[in-house]
Amino acid sequence: MPSEDEGELFGSSVKVLHSYRHLAEVNWQSLNDHPLTALPWDAWFVLKCSLAFAEKVIARKCSQEASAMIIEPKLIMLEDVKASEKVQTFIRLSDEQMEAIGYTEHGFRHVSLVAHNARRLLQELGFNDRQPELAAIAGYLHDVGNMISRIMHSKTGAVIALNLLLELGMSPDEAGAVAAAIGNHDEQEGGAIISPITAAVVIADKADVHRSRVRNPNMAAFDIHDRINYAAQQALLSVNPRERTITLDLTIDLSIGSVFEYFEIFMSRMLFSRKAAEFLGCRYRLVINGVPML
Ligand SMILES: [Fe+2]
Ligand SMILES: [Fe+2]
Repeated sequence: MPSEDEGELFGSSVKVLHSYRHLAEVNWQSLNDHPLTALPWDAWFVLKCSLAFAEKVIARKCSQEASAMIIEPKLIMLEDVKASEKVQTFIRLSDEQMEAIGYTEHGFRHVSLVAHNARRLLQELGFNDRQPELAAIAGYLHDVGNMISRIMHSKTGAVIALNLLLELGMSPDEAGAVAAAIGNHDEQEGGAIISPITAAVVIADKADVHRSRVRNPNMAAFDIHDRINYAAQQALLSVNPRERTITLDLTIDLSIGSVFEYFEIFMSRMLFSRKAAEFLGCRYRLVINGVPML
């Protein structure tokens, strides 16, 4: 009887092994049909053993091929997400739609900054598991729903991100957590702070107030959003893990936009950021031109 290693020589796939078994069966049958065929008993024995061996190898091969078909979840990093052509295309299309409806920049600059700050925030607060990386991924994908429509973009974005991440091989648990953070990142679309990942994305997203986001080249045609973003010369997000504070330090050119106007359009964002900070066990501080506001 051949050894199992020898058996491997009969073929590397189940299909080949099945044909091997078929041949063995045919041989066995022909011996039964012609019992007078002058074959010694040991030859009969070898054929019978070959048939049994074929069954055994086929069973083992089947289980190997079946287990190969179960896709093992991968540890997906932000770099893997960035390398996806689909992700790059969807972010570009999202920003194009925002431009078409007159919104500030929501493209690679914005999402890269949100990803960077969301990860940094959790790292500096002592999260040393997968959550900082998942927050970075959620930050990078958080506005991808704008590709479909600005309205309910957090919800459509969550579904798009879920599909993209599962396709990349992320585990359902992690992909679900990222999708939930994206689905909850907008306070005007019913968002709620449900996890550290969500909290980090919300704080990082709302902190991106900067003149580089304004696309309108005509200052005379600025709306209040353009003006306040353009007035923001610097926006620094910092964490003090010992004091458990998260501070957004803004430098605003008051000749372009007033502090009052800033609060007029960003009040709900600031309150949402405060909730997010509290979820992380921190106090949210807003400092404008060196003066503490919150
Ligand atoms: Fe958004
Ligand atoms: Fe955003």
